[in-house]
Amino acid sequence: MTADALAPYVPRPTPGIAAATTDLSKVHGRGDTRVVALDRVSVAFREGEFTAIMGPSGCGKSTLLHCAAGLDTPTSGSVRVGTTELGTLDDRRLTQLRRDRIGFVFQAFNLLPTLTALENITLPLSIAGRRPDRQWLDRVVSMVGLSQRLDHRPAQLSGGQQQRVAVARALVSRPAVVFADEPTGNLDSRAGAEVLGFLRDSVRDLGQTVVMVTHDPVAAGFADRVVFLADGRLVDEMTRPTPDRVMDLMLRTSGDGAARTG
Ligand SMILES: Nc1ncnc2c1ncn2[C@@H]1O[C@H](COP(=O)(O)OP(=O)(O)O)[C@@H](O)[C@H]1O
Ligand SMILES: [Mg+2]
Repeated sequence: MTADALAPYVPRPTPGIAAATTDLSKVHGRGDTRVVALDRVSVAFREGEFTAIMGPSGCGKSTLLHCAAGLDTPTSGSVRVGTTELGTLDDRRLTQLRRDRIGFVFQAFNLLPTLTALENITLPLSIAGRRPDRQWLDRVVSMVGLSQRLDHRPAQLSGGQQQRVAVARALVSRPAVVFADEPTGNLDSRAGAEVLGFLRDSVRDLGQTVVMVTHDPVAAGFADRVVFLADGRLVDEMTRPTPDRVMDLMLRTSGDGAARTG
């Protein structure tokens, strides 16, 4: 198993593209229940950048994240992580790529209740038969402020602390990209701001690439760039967002949406 793992990801000196989609479309269901969740979305996520994906409920944000992370299969179009086209991989290689190149943070934390915080954090490595890089692990654990809580089980931790465990778990394999789907959706604003701060620190201090879905303009304000989806299409983008500017654009795009469907 160990021999099969991909070599550790090393970002290039000149930042490239960590992940990208080209003309990505996804249709869920068929017949009467057919839904076009994504309609030819082409978007690139640069290395060392924190991107937020925003848009109204049901516009395809989770579908985009799942396809980009190799958790869902496109109907057409392509996805690449680094220089690897996901469509060219068989199931075994795709599993490997997800394990070694991608970190995922879910809204619902998704920790294993019987494992300690440390065991949860190192689980992806244990599954891969890899030993944690002790220095990196210490750095990640101290960055998210969990050094004193490593032997606690999820039930003994607050929601914010559980999500910090999930963030550390996503970072521990030094993935090419961390995808986070509404990571603060189950947290109060203070715990949410902490988790967002850690995601931003992972970009600033560790050079991580992060792509996060959110519907919260304050959360988007932590990102370097925001891309806006509506009805499965990329409709706008903003660099160096502030909550006010994001809010403004959201109001305008939702107005457009209403005009289009009306
Ligand atoms: N597994 C699925 N089966 C059928 N329809 C789905 C499935 N997942 C998502 N959809 C539909 O696809 C559209 C986009 O969903 P989603 O990506 O979850 O949106 P968002 O995350 O922006 O709220 C919605 O209309 C949703 O109902
Ligand atoms: Mg969603």
